[in-house]
Amino acid sequence: MPLLIAPSILSADFSNLKAGIDMINTSEADWFHVDVMDGVFVPNISFGFPIMKALKEHAQKMLDVHLMIVEPDRYIEEFKKAGAGLLTVHYEACTHLHRTLQNIKHHGMKAGVAINPHTPISALADIIRDIDVVLVMSVNPGFGGQKFIPHTFDKVLRLKQLIIESSAKTKIEVDGGVDLDNALPLMRAGADILVAGNTIFSSPNPKECIKFLKDPL
Ligand code: DX5
Ligand code: ZN
Repeated sequence: MPLLIAPSILSADFSNLKAGIDMINTSEADWFHVDVMDGVFVPNISFGFPIMKALKEHAQKMLDVHLMIVEPDRYIEEFKKAGAGLLTVHYEACTHLHRTLQNIKHHGMKAGVAINPHTPISALADIIRDIDVVLVMSVNPGFGGQKFIPHTFDKVLRLKQLIIESSAKTKIEVDGGVDLDNALPLMRAGADILVAGNTIFSSPNPKECIKFLKDPL
């Protein structure tokens, strides 16, 4: 099965966001990856609801919203209203992760859990069947354009094993430093969805780049 590709609009030109949205709409990309940062959970602030509103108006593909914020429970309803189809919270930001996931699903969204590079796969063993998508961070969250952490390959392999052993239907998404070289080994390790920001938006031909990432064989 070809990979799903979720271009990260964090790397788009915000002075001409519509052009970035149109590029994704007319490309082979599958989702819009939307990085929300609060300056507390991560050392950076990205954007919030006004930008999401603009996105929702023009995006013709699912909004894959990656919350890098503390206390995500406070905003679940608002993100649903803002158009999120998949809402991903960080494992490290949730004290009552099971409750948070139920709440996301209750609001009619798919529920994702992101794990930082230092968080072991084993931490998900007792919750994996409740997770629609695990977002494996292959950089420390906070900024686009960072270098891919190679240990991610091993984590994806172990996550895939956990999913199979648990008879779960969870999909694996990888985020951070994804490029034309690591897409194929990530797919072989078990990734289903790749997020890419810098690689796509700094490419001379973003649509061709998306096409390659989708089918890197
Ligand atoms: C990092 C974000 C990523 C980022 C990916 O905190 O979660 O989604 O935008 O950008 P690249 O592909 O440039 O690493
Ligand atoms: Zn992200």
